Amino acid sequence: MASNGPMILCDSLVKIYKVQDLEVFALQGLDLVIERGEFMALVGPSGSGKSSLMNILGGLDRPSAGKAIVDGQDLLKLSNFALTRYRRQKVGFVWQQPSRNLIPYLSVEENVELPMIVAGMPYGERKAWTRELLETVNLWDRRHHSLAQLSGGEQQRTAIGVSLANKPVLLLADEPTGEVDTSTAQVIMDTLRLLNEQYGLTILLVTHDVRVSGQVDRVVTIRDGRTSSERVRRLREQSIAEEAVVVAEQPEAVAAEPQVDYHEYVVVDYAGRLQLPREYLEAMGISDRAQVDLTDEGIVVRPARGVADASSQAARVSEVAEAWGPQQQSKDWRLRVADASRGLRGLLRQKKEQ
Ligand SMILES: Nc1ncnc2c1ncn2[C@@H]1O[C@H](COP(=O)(O)OP(=O)(O)O)[C@@H](O)[C@H]1O
Ligand SMILES: [Mg+2]
Repeated sequence: MASNGPMILCDSLVKIYKVQDLEVFALQGLDLVIERGEFMALVGPSGSGKSSLMNILGGLDRPSAGKAIVDGQDLLKLSNFALTRYRRQKVGFVWQQPSRNLIPYLSVEENVELPMIVAGMPYGERKAWTRELLETVNLWDRRHHSLAQLSGGEQQRTAIGVSLANKPVLLLADEPTGEVDTSTAQVIMDTLRLLNEQYGLTILLVTHDVRVSGQVDRVVTIRDGRTSSERVRRLREQSIAEEAVVVAEQPEAVAAEPQVDYHEYVVVDYAGRLQLPREYLEAMGISDRAQVDLTDEGIVVRPARGVADASSQAARVSEVAEAWGPQQQSKDWRLRVADASRGLRGLLRQKKEQ
């Protein structure tokens, strides 16, 4: 059943929520590829679409358009029945509140075993897998405890055990360290890293915490429902090997702790679009138009000079925004854009009918 190719492929993924008769664009053409066995973090401001993406990848919600393929299955095309099966068999979910995965009146062991019972896993396999999982998350000694007797970190590790009960190929974790202190967060991260290494489990983690995002293989930033940049962790040792530099004389130096380099990349989508960091734009005084030139050094982006309508355009936009109501200006702009486009569509329809 396992297929080749990446674990996750999102191509121009769109998610629109309909709230009453407004449309909220939570994902606006998101592109993302995650390879099998990767341990990845997704970061981005609140409201940028992280949870929307996780819910789609977890089979809890349907995409509106675009492509979302996980382990060879096209989530847009699955029937409701197939999507339920996907959710139960392919993915494990860990939430910010461990209680979402746990049943309070069952013991640690019973909680982990329950999904296996539901899935009809044979007794022997079930007992062996429960033990292995509880040992991996370091809770075997506490297996008979009730949840109330556990600390927040232990509850979260139990929740991780539950999420893996059905041997998923992908683990999705939405802010799993959001409600715990630093040292507990570290234990949770160590547990996830162990699972990634021991079982080759692909892990996608949403986090706000820079200390957490420093411990994964790759960090992808999402802004306004699009992936905008990514940071790749490379062991310096590895990059030296890649450049074929021979370090024969100092074996101790090679054996020393590998140092980590981070490379920040901007994502370029299939249409050649990329998003420049706001700080760069502000530093260069670029507003809505830029001059782009190909040089020997690469592509240079400069403020557009002598474009009269560029700044007047910006002024016009803020004028219109003001007229819409300054009180909630930036917060609900998406709602208002959706509103405006609907108004436009209505107008076009009227024109047609005339
Ligand atoms: N169920 C929903 N109904 C309507 N709007 C939603 C729903 N879930 C999320 N949104 C909206 O979609 C956008 C992205 O939200 P979300 O994916 O939760 O972002 P994040 O997890 O990055 O904070 C926000 O504008 C949010 O208000
Ligand atoms: Mg969220």
